[in-house]
Amino acid sequence: MSRYFRAEISANIPLNDNHNLLSLTNLDPMDEPEPGQFYMVEVNQGYDPLLKRAFSLFRRTAEGIQILYRIQGKGTAILRNLKEGAVIRILGPLGNGYPAAPEEAIPVILAGGIGIASVFPLIERFAGKAYVLYGARTGGDLFMIDELRGLSKELHLCTDDGSCSEKGNVVGLLHSLCASRSSCLDHVKVYACGPKVMLREAAKVVSSNCIKAWFSLEEHMACGIGACLGCVTKIKSARPGEEQAFEYQRVCKEGPVFDAEDIVW
Ligand SMILES: Cc1cc2nc3c(=O)[nH]c(=O)nc-3n(C[C@H](O)[C@H](O)[C@H](O)COP(=O)(O)OP(=O)(O)OC[C@H]3O[C@@H](n4cnc5c(N)ncnc54)[C@H](O)[C@@H]3O)c2cc1C
Ligand code: FES
Repeated sequence: MSRYFRAEISANIPLNDNHNLLSLTNLDPMDEPEPGQFYMVEVNQGYDPLLKRAFSLFRRTAEGIQILYRIQGKGTAILRNLKEGAVIRILGPLGNGYPAAPEEAIPVILAGGIGIASVFPLIERFAGKAYVLYGARTGGDLFMIDELRGLSKELHLCTDDGSCSEKGNVVGLLHSLCASRSSCLDHVKVYACGPKVMLREAAKVVSSNCIKAWFSLEEHMACGIGACLGCVTKIKSARPGEEQAFEYQRVCKEGPVFDAEDIVW
């Protein structure tokens, strides 16, 4: 059962012009989060903005949690201005998180842009086992590279503008990885978070290689607890006789992580 807890900001460090790393110390008891779960964060105690903002667990620390966030609009701009010592209210951890993998699994983890925030704790969990494919628009938007290098079996980077490492995107990297290891894809499990267009293209690659995959989706969220139905997405449902059958599922409750095969794009 997820609940509210108060947390004190111990650091809110700009990583570049539009990304910050927020370190929080929980002041109330907090449920243990799983990789892929998220929090609804009250960025302001008043009514503006009224709605809490959704952020993935980036890292569990000894003191609490860390959140890696991109400044997007009003809510995240307020968050960026919060100083050390400020106390905020947080609801979570929420959602299902990434499923556990069998011992023999070969994890391949895709992160596009701020999607790294969601998969980072999974990379930590796999410690040294995962092939990590991480891309962003430019080199300045790739974060925690040294740590990722230490945590990954192999780290492959790419950028849209070619300013760091290979020019291209993570779907291209996934394609190359599958092509170069086509004889040993049986145990590969893919986990991904990033822009929807990236996930849609990655779904084609995993499907054509018969690879099992789980993708974390993002939708605009008002409540984060399954009550408002504001975050629904189409998920295939196997009703006999209905070839194109789907149902709406809540990204905040049944997700945010879904079996890639089930997502209707
Ligand atoms: C499960 C989940 C996990 C997320 N994890 C992270 C993370 O770790 N780091 C990070 O930087 N961002 C993350 N996001 C996106 C983040 O929630 C939005 O960037 C943020 O809500 C934008 O708020 P804003 O007020 O700054 O932007 P505005 O554009 O002013 O927001 C207006 C409204 O739109 C909603 N909104 C805007 N963009 C998004 C978006 N991409 N997804 C969902 N709602 C949005 C806001 O919540 C708000 O209700 C996550 C989203 C979801 C659903
Ligand atoms: S955000 Fe309200 S149901 Fe998902």
